[in-house]
Amino acid sequence: MNITVFDSRAALVDHAADLISEFVTTAPAAVLGLATGGTMMPIYENLIGRHNLGLVSFSRTSGFLLDEYVALPRSHSQTYRNVIHRLFERHVDVLPGSIIGPDGNASALAAECERYDRQVSEAGVGLQLLGIGRNGHIGFNEPGASPGSRTRVVTLAQATRDDNARFFTSPQQVPTQAITQGIGTIRAGKRLLIVAQGTHKAAAVRAAISGPITPALPASALQLHSNVTFLLDTKAASSIPPAAL
Ligand code: F6R
Repeated sequence: MNITVFDSRAALVDHAADLISEFVTTAPAAVLGLATGGTMMPIYENLIGRHNLGLVSFSRTSGFLLDEYVALPRSHSQTYRNVIHRLFERHVDVLPGSIIGPDGNASALAAECERYDRQVSEAGVGLQLLGIGRNGHIGFNEPGASPGSRTRVVTLAQATRDDNARFFTSPQQVPTQAITQGIGTIRAGKRLLIVAQGTHKAAAVRAAISGPITPALPASALQLHSNVTFLLDTKAASSIPPAAL
């Protein structure tokens, strides 16, 4: 497990964008696993800046979303499909149809989850971007999710709905369910890049890095992966025992 702690958020974001740019530039067929959420936004912004300067191209990149809300209208600004389009896809040269997510409005959701899991697995994610919830979730694998879980419909934890209420006009509008890639699906990615900022993430980060591997803290399953990089600001890293750094 590789852990780097940054004094400034700008340096963290720049380093994450360095790793992503290097990956999409050097991998013959770059398959990126894409997270959404507040942590990722400045990273996508940084990548767009690099693209505008001609420093990186995404024309050979495909991307798979980690998760999607269930039953949020397709036109809603907060579907993760629309979020990634608005904040990243439409600003760069990724080819049309190359960024894919599960369909949270599918009439047969279980079949859609199986289909998406197969699609992600067959493509083979080379670099998976991850945020972490303050309850230790990755994707929307909430506490209780097993390390081998696959893509499925989950009920969002109240803490997650509370945290994501900032993206909606009222807390009641946050969907109660989502499709998420499972922890087993995520762990099949070749390299996992997990980013966390802020004191409110410190306990989850400590448990993910140095706690027991337990479904109670889904991100602890990352300890089972051989190529995980944590990029943290000093606040998110503040509870990690020094011996683990
Ligand atoms: C989003 C996702 C989530 C977020 C996590 C952190 O696609 O999978 O696991 O990464 O909830 O969210 P922020 O970055 O908003 O704190």
